[in-house]
Amino acid sequence: MLKLGILGSGSGSNMQAILDAIEGGKLVAEISLVLSDHTDALILERARRNNIPSGVIDCAGYQTRFPEEAQKETARRLKAAGVELVCLAGFMRLVKTPLLEIFPNRILNIHPSLLPAYPGMAAWEQAIADGASESGCTVHLVDAGMDTGPVLGQARVTVTADDSATSLHQKIQYEEHRLYPAIIAQHAETLARLGE
Ligand code: GRF
Repeated sequence: MLKLGILGSGSGSNMQAILDAIEGGKLVAEISLVLSDHTDALILERARRNNIPSGVIDCAGYQTRFPEEAQKETARRLKAAGVELVCLAGFMRLVKTPLLEIFPNRILNIHPSLLPAYPGMAAWEQAIADGASESGCTVHLVDAGMDTGPVLGQARVTVTADDSATSLHQKIQYEEHRLYPAIIAQHAETLARLGE
């Protein structure tokens, strides 16, 4: 059984979608550990409600940095839980070394745009401000850049004239919840095939 670790900072709706896909038999995996950099994040509450082991990442008071010590400790906890694939789900810090080196090709992220368009924060607001007629979401492998790793899959949504940033984000999240579990399953197969 593929063991997943999930890192998130916010509501955890993607974590929920992954769990629903597992329970619905669409993804053969288990969520072994959920970690958040925010003590009161809803993603932790969702984990507790579903009896999934969870914990808080101590980022030593830094608002946006993911300090090296915190990354090492995160890697240690993920490894101790037997995690084979790490899924970032609304995790608001840039993952770099050493975590990237400890899980090579094994850290995925979901981003709410059709990358390379609109990397960074609030991509749905960027799309609206830009007058885009189309947006969507992307699952990609994480590298040391911001939303720059190889793309594994995308889903598109149409931006209509009456869309606000909020309504566009809702449309994108609907697609995220379908795309992420499917790409996790696909990537797990790829890793197994490569014998990694
Ligand atoms: C998603 O829109 C994701 O694309 C972005 O952060 C949001 C997380 O939402 N990276 P949730 O916590 O999974 O509900």
